[in-house]
Amino acid sequence: MKVLVVGGGGREHTLVWKLNQSPRVTKVYCAPGNAGISREAEVVPIDVTDIKALVDFAVSEGIGLTCAGPELPLTLGIVDAFEAAGLRIFGASKAAAEIEGSKVFTKDLLAKYNIPSGTYQVFDDAGAARAYLKEIGAPIVVKADGLAAGKGAIVCQTIEEAEEAVRLCMDERAFGDAGDTIVIEEFLEGEEASFLAFSDGKTVLPMATSQDHKPIFDGDKGPNTGGMGAYSPAPVVTPALFDQAMNEIMIPTVQAMAAEGRPYKGVLYAGLMIKDGKARVLEFNARFGDPEAQPLFMRLDGDLVEIMEAVIDERLDEITLDWQDDATICVVMASGGYPGDYEKGKVITGIDEADALPDVKVFHAGTAEKDGKIVTSGGRVLGVTARGKDIPQAIERAYEACALIKWDGAQYRTDIGAKAIKFLK
Ligand code: AMP
Ligand code: GLY
Repeated sequence: MKVLVVGGGGREHTLVWKLNQSPRVTKVYCAPGNAGISREAEVVPIDVTDIKALVDFAVSEGIGLTCAGPELPLTLGIVDAFEAAGLRIFGASKAAAEIEGSKVFTKDLLAKYNIPSGTYQVFDDAGAARAYLKEIGAPIVVKADGLAAGKGAIVCQTIEEAEEAVRLCMDERAFGDAGDTIVIEEFLEGEEASFLAFSDGKTVLPMATSQDHKPIFDGDKGPNTGGMGAYSPAPVVTPALFDQAMNEIMIPTVQAMAAEGRPYKGVLYAGLMIKDGKARVLEFNARFGDPEAQPLFMRLDGDLVEIMEAVIDERLDEITLDWQDDATICVVMASGGYPGDYEKGKVITGIDEADALPDVKVFHAGTAEKDGKIVTSGGRVLGVTARGKDIPQAIERAYEACALIKWDGAQYRTDIGAKAIKFLK
């Protein structure tokens, strides 16, 4: 079977790597891919938003299974368009992907079905938003309703910061239409974890636990990024918390989506805030996490094609997921300046040496090939992923590999996975 992965980041490199291991896959294509992906798949220069060109390509190549990595094509309706053309595709429909595409939709859904999350108010008028801020005070979180490339949630410690966030969204329109409506949400304290599950609309099949590191600097300092590193398993998600997340959040959400006439098929990813042994929802994503996919797929045994087909055919109840006992960790190496402005085109050295280390795989995110050399082409550049018998050993191996990789301005956090250690003592 020929398969197509849509996207070109670290998550998509991981999907290409995992799908290539399936005995049923004869060839993997990736649109648009990156320099690392081009060594393992045939890359096709089609943008993730050009749904029509992707459909045409899949029809003409006889693609048997497509998987869309990022949220944007899902919210644009790639799944609906592929299905209308008689193609098989894994992912959330346009109506289901609204769970990531609109914060207002999701907060209203959670409230309607009593799924634990922070209190909130919705505004489409800046004056009313400011008056509410004065009444309720800080800390508080201001969120653009629509997709904003991971930058639309602004955590504000003071009223001044919150007013600035409202100005940015609604007056300056920094996120375009996405910020014309905003959610002002209760600030939730605690420790975050990522909870991912496959869903076929009826059965919810949870993945192993994982944790991301959103802020750019060590100790969770500095602005939020797309994610600077992740590991699995995440001991903050105890067995009791896992059960609570399934019973109070994941299963009720899939049931709620069905009741709303938006059957949820694909990956449901809940960003959780955990405090006093209880999880509440910060947000939902309609796709695999990036970088959570890297450590998760490194631990997952079995054939990803089988799992994706079971989702499409609504027989997920027949599937079990087998996770290796090992721990895995992904350290993201990023361009200097990220998540702000950064330069591109820096020559990267040491990738092959790092990749050659046992139990290490370097997944590419923002890389391109130029004159036979691999150069930086994005904010998050590489996901250096390692396996160990436990978290400390996985951490040691990942950082040994990172130390071999160099380019002008490269930055990475040195404390990925450190949060797990306190639970292991
Ligand atoms: P989101 O785009 O909703 O996932 O938010 C991005 C990040 O902002 C989250 O991973 C949290 O670190 C933070 N955040 C979002 N909502 C809240 C909240 N209600 N309370 C505290 N932190 C939040
Ligand atoms: N790692 C965060 C995300 O994928 O949204």
